[in-house]
Amino acid sequence: MMDNDRIISANLMMEDSAVEYSLRPRYLAEYIGQKQAKENLKIYIEAAKQRKEALDHVLLYGPPGLGKTTLSNIIANELGVNIRTTSGPAIERPGDLAAILTNLQEGDVLFIDEIHRLHRTVEEVLYPAMEDYALDIIIGKGPSARSVRLDLPAFTLIGATTRVGLLSAPLRDRFGVVSRLEFYTVDELSYIVSRTADILQVGIVGEAAREIGMRSRGTPRIANRLLKRVRDFAQVKGDGIITMELARESLRLLQVDDLGLDEIDHKMLRAIILSFQGGPVGLETIAATIGEESQTIEDVYEPYLLQIGFMQRTPRGRMVTPQAYHHLGLPLPEPK
Ligand code: ADE
Repeated sequence: MMDNDRIISANLMMEDSAVEYSLRPRYLAEYIGQKQAKENLKIYIEAAKQRKEALDHVLLYGPPGLGKTTLSNIIANELGVNIRTTSGPAIERPGDLAAILTNLQEGDVLFIDEIHRLHRTVEEVLYPAMEDYALDIIIGKGPSARSVRLDLPAFTLIGATTRVGLLSAPLRDRFGVVSRLEFYTVDELSYIVSRTADILQVGIVGEAAREIGMRSRGTPRIANRLLKRVRDFAQVKGDGIITMELARESLRLLQVDDLGLDEIDHKMLRAIILSFQGGPVGLETIAATIGEESQTIEDVYEPYLLQIGFMQRTPRGRMVTPQAYHHLGLPLPEPK
């Protein structure tokens, strides 16, 4: 199964984008969770506004679905500036980036999603732009070629990535603010589910919101998606109100277990346990065994399994922990 077919995929799906936009908080005060990042940003935004300067460049990293794009839009909103949104792979040539940069206005935010996927030649245009708000253009060819420096408006680059380790050091070092987004707590997710239900004008009892929060893998995007599916069940099978019973039954039909794990998580954990005695086993081997991309495992499935202590990364590969055996109802292996 492709990751994007999963109900608990943290990747953005087509269907999400229109609705997700209207559900997104627009100001820091409405944004639930990420206390640390929020508190810091609030101060930096306030200070930049007082000085009437552009905010320093910001790097946001962490697993997909935790609100990097939302937070970037909030930052622009709070600063009262425009935001121009693009992504690493969308900027094919240095000229594409030059065009974007020269069209910015003083103080604007440029948001580059998946910034780890920028081409090296494009990245080099970014260095003087970030450091000196300047664009170096080469005019002419051969011995008569010369470099001309164009001034750019002061702007804020916000880079987002799920893989901060892939960023080159010179790029990483040019961000003044580096913030890691964390998985959300069940309380925060329950709150987000209730807020979204309010916006969607669907009734939900508190314990059902909590049930959905518990099964959302610490990820608001998944929480909102599950809520929308459960709402369908409530509309067709119930009387429109999401009760605990209805939430449980629909989540069961969606094959999302008590901790938010789905068939693929089960398949992966079982494969490591049954074929490799619980590990350690290399990522590539796991990927080949279950027929998934190793990068998808690393970016999407694994972070949450590590977070809840079901898997560990060791120098010799991935290992499944006793908690995972217990959750799957499998007996622990005999000590060797
Ligand atoms: N919807 C999605 N993410 C959210 C967040 N962090 N706070 C409020 N609503 C959200």
